[in-house]
Amino acid sequence: MDTNLTQTSSAQSRRILLGISGGIAAYKTAELVRHFKKAGAEVKVVMTPDATRFVTPLTLGTLSENEVHIEIFPENEAGSWTKHVSLGLWADLFIVAPATAQTLSKLVNGACDNMLTAVALTARCPVLVCPAMDHDMYIHPSVVANLDTLRARGVEVMEAEHGALASGLIGQGRLPEPIHIFETACGILEKRAASRTGSLQGKKVLVTAGPTREAIDPVRYISNHSTGTMGYEIARSAARRGADVVLVSGPTALATPENVRRIDVESTQQMYDAVQSHADADVVVMVAAVADFTPEMPSDSKIKKDGTARALALKPTIDILGALGSQKRPSQLLIGFALETDNGESNARSKLERKNLDWIVLNNPKEKGAGFGTTTNKVTLLGTSGAKVELPLMSKDEVAEAILETTLGKANR
Ligand SMILES: Cc1cc2nc3c(=O)[nH]c(=O)nc-3n(C[C@H](O)[C@H](O)[C@H](O)COP(=O)(O)O)c2cc1C
Repeated sequence: MDTNLTQTSSAQSRRILLGISGGIAAYKTAELVRHFKKAGAEVKVVMTPDATRFVTPLTLGTLSENEVHIEIFPENEAGSWTKHVSLGLWADLFIVAPATAQTLSKLVNGACDNMLTAVALTARCPVLVCPAMDHDMYIHPSVVANLDTLRARGVEVMEAEHGALASGLIGQGRLPEPIHIFETACGILEKRAASRTGSLQGKKVLVTAGPTREAIDPVRYISNHSTGTMGYEIARSAARRGADVVLVSGPTALATPENVRRIDVESTQQMYDAVQSHADADVVVMVAAVADFTPEMPSDSKIKKDGTARALALKPTIDILGALGSQKRPSQLLIGFALETDNGESNARSKLERKNLDWIVLNNPKEKGAGFGTTTNKVTLLGTSGAKVELPLMSKDEVAEAILETTLGKANR
C-alpha cells in the first residue's frame, strides 16, 4: 500500500530505530521497514537474539540498508559497546514491534540483557510499543499490568488487533498491520517535530565550520586538516529544530545542509568579518578550526625556489571567539570548541573562562575515532560552574544532536 503525502513528509529524514523481539509476527517488520524507507526515513534495526529465529538479520539489514544490532558485546569491534547509548541518542522514534511478553516485562523492570533492552534504557526519543502474542498471554494480568506501567511512563502502546492468531485461536493479540504501525509512528513524529521545532523556532543560530587558510603567497597557504563535518552537522541539527541557521564555512568539500544559509570564506579575517555581521544570533557555535597564525608579510607574487633556506615570520590571527565573548549579550548562548592533545580539560576550562563562553566542546585528535577526517567523534562538554558531560564515541551527526540537546537544555548551568 502506498503511503500518503503527509505521512511521507513527517517520516522524511527521520531516524527510526526499530526493535524486534521474538514473536511470530516478527516477519511483518520487513514490510514496516519498507514503509519507512519509502517515506524517506533512515532506519536502524535492533533485534533480540530470539527475534533472529523468526526473521533474519540479513533481511532487515538489506531492507534498512544498515547494520542490524543484536549483541551488546559484538566480537572484534573495538569501541562498539557504546552503540547501546549512541543508538538511543540517534533515534527520533524507537518502535518495539512486535513486543513479546518477555520483552515487555524486561522494559518494565529495566532489564538490560540484550541490545534492544539496553537501547530502551538510553532512548531519549518517544517510544512506541506494539505488543503481539497469543490471546491468553495478552490478557494475563502480568502483561496487562506491564502495558499499564509503560503507558504511565509516557510510552505509546498500540493495542494488539483482534483476529486469527498463529496459535490457531481467534482473539486479541495480533500485531497491527505494518501500515497501521507506520501511520501511528508518523503521528508521533509529527507531534515531536512540532515540539522540537519550537525549541529553536524563531531563533537565529550562527555556526562556523571547516579550516581557514592564511596566504603565504598567491599559491601557498597555511591551513589544517579540518573537513568541516562537525560544524556542518551542528548546522543541520539546528536547522532541523527550525532555527534560521547561518553557516560561515572555510573551504570544504561538503554540500550545504538543507535550510541553511552558507557564507564561504577563506581567511581568518574573512571569517571574523562574516561572523561579526551575524553576531546578533541567539546561539553561536564556533566549530571552525581557525588558523592561529598568519604570515606577517604575505607576498603578492609567488615566492621563487632559489635553493636558500627561508624563515616565515608569523603573527597571531584575529581572535574570533574572544571578540564574540567580550561582546556577548546575557541572552546569547556562546559555544566554543577546543582541540587539545595535552592537558585537555584544564586548557579547555581556561579557554571557557578567558573567552566568556557558556560551553566548550573538548576533543582530542589523538583519541581513536575523534577529531579531523573521521565520521565519528568523542567529545566532552564543559560548562560554566563546573558542568561536565562526557559523551561516548558517536557518529558526528549524533554528536551534533547531543551537543544541542545538552547545551540548549542546560544553557546557563
Ligand atoms: C513459534 C513461537 C512463536 C512465539 N510467538 C510469540 C509471540 O507472538 N509473542 C510472545 O510474546 N512470545 C512468543 N513466543 C515466545 C518468545 O519467543 C519467548 O518468550 C522468547 O523468550 C522471547 O524473547 P525476546 O523477548 O527476548 O525476543 C513464541 C515462541 C515460539 C517458539
